[in-house]
Amino acid sequence: MNRGLELTVAGLSHSYGDLRVLDGIDLTVREGELVALIGPSGCGKSTLLSIMGGILRPETGSVLLGGRVPEGCLNPLTYVFQDFALLPWRTVRGNVALVLEHHALSRDERRAMVDDVLRRTGLLDFAEALPRQLSGGMRQRVGIARALVVRPAVLLMDEPLSALDAQTRELLMEDLVSLWLRERVTGVYVTHNLAEALRLADRIVVLSRRPGRIRDVVPVAIPQAERTRPVAQGELAALNERLWHLIKAEAQVAEREVIDD
Ligand SMILES: Nc1ncnc2c1ncn2[C@@H]1O[C@H](COP(=O)(O)OP(=O)(O)O)[C@@H](O)[C@H]1O
Ligand SMILES: [Mg+2]
Repeated sequence: MNRGLELTVAGLSHSYGDLRVLDGIDLTVREGELVALIGPSGCGKSTLLSIMGGILRPETGSVLLGGRVPEGCLNPLTYVFQDFALLPWRTVRGNVALVLEHHALSRDERRAMVDDVLRRTGLLDFAEALPRQLSGGMRQRVGIARALVVRPAVLLMDEPLSALDAQTRELLMEDLVSLWLRERVTGVYVTHNLAEALRLADRIVVLSRRPGRIRDVVPVAIPQAERTRPVAQGELAALNERLWHLIKAEAQVAEREVIDD
């Protein structure tokens, strides 16, 4: 069962003043699909995500949502940010509950929803902790829990793991994969990390340098649950080569990552 909406971006272009940032983007993210957006720093990834989320109005083009908003969904389009954006004086529970406060829910309903999402994200034992008492990985879990508690139909993630060290990122990525397989909301995941894109995404959209245009769309046909298996490694390596080839021409790079500032 899919819990997401279909998201279509058509003929989308955007400028900030004289700076052309996005140019002629057409993309449909299907119900329950996870699309990764990769591209060099400054090519307009965050801008595109803001436009998808309705935070920013595009200069030209449109964003359309298709399908029925799932039952219990309080906020169809929801973000997970790179920098966690937690309130330092609120506990984990308090930070997650925050986004429910302006919804008409009883105290008990709210409590049940928060407890449920804390359980799903492995945070129940940390419910009364303050953000400063948590590691970066746990803090980002709170960011994810806060996004999930409103039962989104489309989850927009802007480099959610990039503020974390490599090992924490690895662990949280595995949790994100299993969470994803269970929740199946529609997702757009911005990253400059090829390994993340290849681990998570159903399709990878490669953007060009600014102004961002779609250079290529690369499907990853291996089910996420099988991508860590030895048999999958050949195909993943080939995809990695292909993506690397597309990206290499677009940016100054170190290792297998596009440098983001
Ligand atoms: N609010 C803004 N006003 C003016 N320029 C902006 C604004 N936001 C982003 N930019 C510029 O637009 C370009 C694309 O930014 P962004 O969408 O953040 O790219 P990315 O997320 O791919 O790094 C960058 O050159 C950035 O400096
Ligand atoms: Mg960005």
